[in-house]
Amino acid sequence: MLFDTHCHLNDEKLLDRVDEVILDANKAGVTHFLVVGWDKESSFKAVEITEQHENVYAIIGFHPENVFDVSEEDFNETLELYKHPKVVAIGEIGLDYHWTKDPIKREIQKEYFIRQIQFANHVGMPVSIHNREAFEDCLNILKEYKPLYGGVMHCYSGSVELLEDVLKLGLYIGLDGPLTFLNAKTPKEVCEKVPLDRLLLETDCPYLAPHPLRGTINEPKNIGLILDEVARLKNLSKKHIADITSRNAKKLFHV
Ligand code: NI
Repeated sequence: MLFDTHCHLNDEKLLDRVDEVILDANKAGVTHFLVVGWDKESSFKAVEITEQHENVYAIIGFHPENVFDVSEEDFNETLELYKHPKVVAIGEIGLDYHWTKDPIKREIQKEYFIRQIQFANHVGMPVSIHNREAFEDCLNILKEYKPLYGGVMHCYSGSVELLEDVLKLGLYIGLDGPLTFLNAKTPKEVCEKVPLDRLLLETDCPYLAPHPLRGTINEPKNIGLILDEVARLKNLSKKHIADITSRNAKKLFHV
């Protein structure tokens, strides 16, 4: 059993063949999926997909690149999706300084990140965190506004040193395709250091296709390539890694 804890089956690149994508993933041993929203429309689509498929759950919220012109009405309406029985977390939320350089816009990202952590705490849900080139601010916010029901640093891209801080906050570490890239030195070191009981596997499809599929449209069926690399780096069997990461996901997201 494999659990893809971060996939965008709600992305237009996959949406019109979701049934086939899920079936292909099932054939490859992927049994459970978390479909992650990034704005109002994608969050509603994520929920819609969960209604048509078993063992598919949704994460709803606003990605840091989608908070700049959201109306209060749309924001609230989206977060109210938490009441749906198949919504298991708030995300993906966070900071993205790679695409956002303007300090005023970065402040807006912080504001929505904090609001969504507070919302998750209020309704008793974990969070899925997107952090790109904003580690210091991201960690400061997480220390001040601690996610009370846990969460995952999605596609962890930080250093081995910062890993300690993230683990101290009780967060899980999500590893994706970049772990398999030939030049990925830091992610491989991170993978060796992460305690097994804090590790989650994700594809972030249709993005971040693992080596040797890099550059193609990614799908959950490719998660085995990430599993292979984790097993190699940890020097443990694939079955062991698959079992423990699935168990971690079930524990964090209560499914
Ligand atoms: Ni994502």
